[in-house]
Amino acid sequence: MKKKIYLMRPFVGKEELEAVRKVFESKYLTEGPVTKEFEEKFAEYVGAKYGVAVTSCAIGMELGLQVLGVGSGDEVIVPDFTHPATGDCVCQVGAEPILVDVDLESYNTTVAGIENAITDKTKCIIPVPWGGNPLDPTIYKLGEEYNIPILEDTACSVGAKIGDKKVGSFAGMSVFSFHPRKVMTTGEGGMLTTDNSEFAEKARSLKTFGVENGRFMYHGTNYKMSNIVAAIGLEQLKKLDKILGDRIEMARIYTELLKGINYIRPPIVKPNIRHTFQSYCIYIEKEGWRDKLRQDLLKKGIETQIGTYALHLEPSYVDVKRNSDLKNSEMLFKNLLTLPLHHELSYEDQEYVVESISSLIRDYGGIK
Ligand SMILES: Cc1ncc(COP(=O)(O)O)c(C=O)c1O
Repeated sequence: MKKKIYLMRPFVGKEELEAVRKVFESKYLTEGPVTKEFEEKFAEYVGAKYGVAVTSCAIGMELGLQVLGVGSGDEVIVPDFTHPATGDCVCQVGAEPILVDVDLESYNTTVAGIENAITDKTKCIIPVPWGGNPLDPTIYKLGEEYNIPILEDTACSVGAKIGDKKVGSFAGMSVFSFHPRKVMTTGEGGMLTTDNSEFAEKARSLKTFGVENGRFMYHGTNYKMSNIVAAIGLEQLKKLDKILGDRIEMARIYTELLKGINYIRPPIVKPNIRHTFQSYCIYIEKEGWRDKLRQDLLKKGIETQIGTYALHLEPSYVDVKRNSDLKNSEMLFKNLLTLPLHHELSYEDQEYVVESISSLIRDYGGIK
């Protein structure tokens, strides 16, 4: 029988089920004390003062922009190489995303790329430590220098570190995702972290119908996280160091096994940072081969994924402003391949993935 290698498997089990069972027994199903505990423990984990649990990262970013008062007539700098959610939240609040290119090594926005896009209308920067690879920390200084708030899209970066500090504690606000393809999951869900008590209170109020001290102060909405979902999050937090440790070790093994295969560029990891490898991506140096590889690997039972999107190539972004030709983003969109990485993957599975890639490259004529 053909082997099936999944791209991702959430690391959930009886602990999460038991925690959900306890919430069921308590009959307190909506947002409540379990959510509060999750918010506090998550914020503590990333080294931020406050956590505000929401229904997704996309919504957390939209709330973050509302907290900053970003709206019509404002510009927000967004990398082109990212999930559409990063730019969509800007459109949702009526502001204009300005797309900037990324670096071919880190896949992240650069200081120069952002600096070139700053205008009098820039009201926020949303950088993305994509795939779990932390940003160049100078980007945070840029926010101070130009007095522009940074709302970091940390969807992929739970547990990522720069030096000893975790991502989620650097920017004015950071927003994480708990989608099942992320490092830890609650099915769907997100968390906004910040050190700013006013930001936290405003975000909390916005997600709870605009309520403040028992009065409805403005028109909010409902993006609360239930105790049921938060109970899963609390159990996932306990497993997080194991999940991250395993991912980092598996990434090391891939990079080792991939050595010497022509036309393949494994990820480059800078010293003094912790990459979460939410996405372990290899760059395929021959145009057209990435998609061929995806199809042929699937025939061998191996699920893969593209890296992510070049927003300017998506129909909903054709008219969106950009400050360069966005060539790097386009190259990454076309040539990056995400390999399977999860706790159910054995060393033999990784060997099978790499051997399959190697033999396919050879079949395509990839002998230099
Ligand atoms: C970089 C990035 N930002 C935001 C999101 C959206 O996260 P969510 O599904 O929690 O809204 C994703 C999801 O894949 C993502 O990769």
